[in-house]
Amino acid sequence: MNNLVILISGSGSNMKAIVRQCQSQRWLERYQARVSLVLSSDPDSTGLAWAKELGLKTQVLSHKAYPHLSRDEARNAFEQDLCAAIDSQHPCLVVLAGFMRILSEATVERYANKMINIHPSLLPSFAGLHTHERALQAGCKFHGATVHWVTAQLDAGAIIDQAVVPVLDGDTASTLAERVLTQEHVLYPKVIQHWLENTKNQPTL
Ligand code: GRF
Repeated sequence: MNNLVILISGSGSNMKAIVRQCQSQRWLERYQARVSLVLSSDPDSTGLAWAKELGLKTQVLSHKAYPHLSRDEARNAFEQDLCAAIDSQHPCLVVLAGFMRILSEATVERYANKMINIHPSLLPSFAGLHTHERALQAGCKFHGATVHWVTAQLDAGAIIDQAVVPVLDGDTASTLAERVLTQEHVLYPKVIQHWLENTKNQPTL
């Protein structure tokens, strides 16, 4: 079985788009692939509630769950628990979809060539936060989203695919964010399906 583990923190709209495409494009039959775990770093994430309601396996792991430990110890404990949760699924891909924790180098290396992320800008422009504000401030005429492999350097792994949107007169950060997010919902499932198609659907001799 080709298990996909999706890590979220908030609304999980990209996770929903992936789950919907998994269902509508019959990833289970075509690639023996399924979303085997949706893990949220926030117990109140609306995406988590949606996944639960759909009957998907879910888990919450919060870095705030270790109040008795120092900051560094808590981070280590969180990442240990996170790796245990991911490893329990023997995933073929670990999909970061709005997961708001920066992972340590050791964790990222553990999932080298297995962990992907979606970032709301046309990387390498605007790595980090507030991408839509920064694109507007820079006077960009085009903006977009990037799916990339995750490496230890933030938002700097090899680019897998991108979606481009125009920046329109009168755009605000929120109108632009909405236009980008709509394209993210097309791009992310497409990238994963393409990867499954090419790496997990090879005929056996
Ligand atoms: C998206 O804009 C994604 O690019 C960024 O975080 C946001 C997550 O949105 N990494 P959602 O939780 O998938 O709705």
